This record gives sequence, C-alpha cells and structure tokens, in this order.
Amino acid sequence: MTGVTGVVAPDPLLEPLAVGGLSLERRLFMAPMAGLTTSAFRRSVRRWGAGLVFTEMISAYGVHYDNRRTLDYFAHGEDERPLGFQLFGADADVLADAAGRAVAAGADLVDLNMACPVRKVVKTGAGAALLAEPERAAGIIAAVVEAVEDAAPGRGVPVTVKIRAGLRDGDELGRLTAPRLVAAGAAAVCIHPRTAAQLYRGHADHAVTFALAAELEVPVIASGDVDGREAALRLLEGGAAAVMLARGALGAPWLFAQVLGAAEPPPAEKLAEVRRFAAEVIADLGGRAVGYLRQFWPRFRRHGALDKPLSMRLMQARSEAELGTLLGL
Ligand SMILES: Cc1cc2nc3c(=O)[nH]c(=O)nc-3n(C[C@H](O)[C@H](O)[C@H](O)COP(=O)(O)O)c2cc1C
Repeated sequence: MTGVTGVVAPDPLLEPLAVGGLSLERRLFMAPMAGLTTSAFRRSVRRWGAGLVFTEMISAYGVHYDNRRTLDYFAHGEDERPLGFQLFGADADVLADAAGRAVAAGADLVDLNMACPVRKVVKTGAGAALLAEPERAAGIIAAVVEAVEDAAPGRGVPVTVKIRAGLRDGDELGRLTAPRLVAAGAAAVCIHPRTAAQLYRGHADHAVTFALAAELEVPVIASGDVDGREAALRLLEGGAAAVMLARGALGAPWLFAQVLGAAEPPPAEKLAEVRRFAAEVIADLGGRAVGYLRQFWPRFRRHGALDKPLSMRLMQARSEAELGTLLGL
C-alpha cells in the first residue's frame, strides 16, 4: 500500500499482537469449527498465513473421563503452532482439569466455548447457555485460569473465551457478560456477533464487536462474515484486535494469503494444495477421510481448485485408496 507520499503504510493485519503471555505474528486467525478444523486442515491454513489456529471444540467431560475418541482431538503437529485448544463444558472443575491436560498436551492457548448454539450442547448448560449464567461462567474462567497456570507456571498461557451477541435478539447477553469474564481472567474475548437463536443465518452485527472493543481492556477478536481483505480491515479499523476466517476459508485456504494482500493463486497451485491436504487427511484419518473430505470437494470446486468431473468422482469415491488414485497421490 503506497500512499501519495510514497511511504508504504504498515499492514495492520501484520502487526504483532500479545494475548496474555502469547505473542502472535499477525492478526488473522482460523476460527474453530466442529467436524472441520482437524490437524490437516489447520496445517493447510497455516501454509497460507493463518496466524493462530484452533482445534475443533473438545468436550471437557470427554477429556476428564479419558474418552479415547475425545483425546484424539489433542493430536497436532508442531507446524500448526501457535495452536489454541477449544474446550466446552458446564462444570468448572471438569473444565479446569481438561484445560490443565490440554496445556500439558501442547496447547499454546485455551479457549472456552460460550458460543455454541447447538441444542445438544446448550441443553447441558454448556456453549451459549453460559451467557445467561454469568456467575457460573466467571467461575469457570477463574478455575481454568488457575489450572492453566498450575500446568505451565510462569508461561502465561492465555485463557480466552468465545461468545455470541446473546441468546436472542435484544438480550445483549454477550455485552453484559463479557466484562465479568475479563474480570475473572479471560485474556481475550472472541465474539461471533450473531445470537444463538440466529444460528449461522443472517449477518453478524459487528456493532456489538466494536462496542465490546471500546469497553474491554483485553483484545477483542472478531468472527463472522469475514470474506476478504476489505472486511478484515474494516473490523480492525472499528477496534477489533484481530479477525478470524471461518466458512469463507472452507475450500479456500488461500483466502488467508489473499486477505493478507496476495493475489488469488492460479488453479494449478490450488490443486497442489488440495492434493497435499487430502494426502495429509488420509494419513491422519484413514477410512474416515472419505466422509470428512466429502464436505470439501464441492467447496474446492466452487473456489476453482477442481473441475466438475473430478469433484464428482471424488464425491463418489468409497475408499481412501480410490481418492488417492483420482488425485494421483
Ligand atoms: C459447521 C460449523 C462448525 C462450527 N464449530 C464451531 C466450534 O466448534 N467452536 C466455535 O467456537 N465456533 C464454531 N463455529 C462458529 C465459527 O467459529 C464462526 O464463529 C462462525 O461460523 C461465524 O463466522 P463466519 O460467518 O465467517 O462463518 C462453527 C461454525 C460452523 C459453520
């Protein structure tokens, strides 16, 4: 970006950001997404410039009770770091135990989910339900901050929280609850300013993000409808400390590079990324790769990485060996 004086303006997305004791190189992150942000996915978006990635949300109960499938979510590569582990639950002691174990397993940051609107989660008192219980929510933050400090004394591993604008339109529970979460020790607040009742429909109301950023002493990280560089810069200008990509980066991991100012990669480069991602998914997930990758083929096609015949054949593939043959792996 060259101004009239010929001076190159610094890119606000490339300014370092401290979250608690964690130093981040840039202000563009990948949001946690259940069923999607696997280790291979996180490595893929890191290659294109994501400054921080998150695990899918992980059940604190599953960790606490040593559920093997849950503990599989802890697996990660060094090339993903910095890596945030996102936990969900409703009980302070269970979450504190899970958070300590997440840090011992390599988490650079622990994020607590107080945003998930899914019925199965909310009816247990977890996710967005906690926005209506500020006392309990603050108690959870305090217990988790203590457990994380015990697990990694002096390292300053931050505990952050992801919230929604509220449960339903007009209740403003996000804005009302967030200051208490910060007072209890949250090192940053990630906000997805839709209400839980909205699920993923309509638009994110970032007026809520800006109001929180003006009010809170800690970084406010914005999530919702970031589809390109312009949207990301607008959020930083409004006061967000960092922004997260979510649905926009599905089938388009190169969106990170584009938001950071790079040109759209040519189709051959996109296909090379698809092949690498698929190979890593197959190596990590084995037979489960087929179902997981089906979520991506139509998106890769939409984003110009696959042509129609190949994406249709990939969609119909029934084994990881068949996928490998189709992709020439
Ligand atoms: C399929 C799906 C799964 C998601 N899973 C999670 C999750 O596990 N934890 C979380 O905090 N947010 C989750 N989210 C919310 C995203 O992190 C993000 O805040 C939201 O999609 C808004 O951003 P977008 O409009 O850019 O997609 C999920 C969203 C989708 C669509």
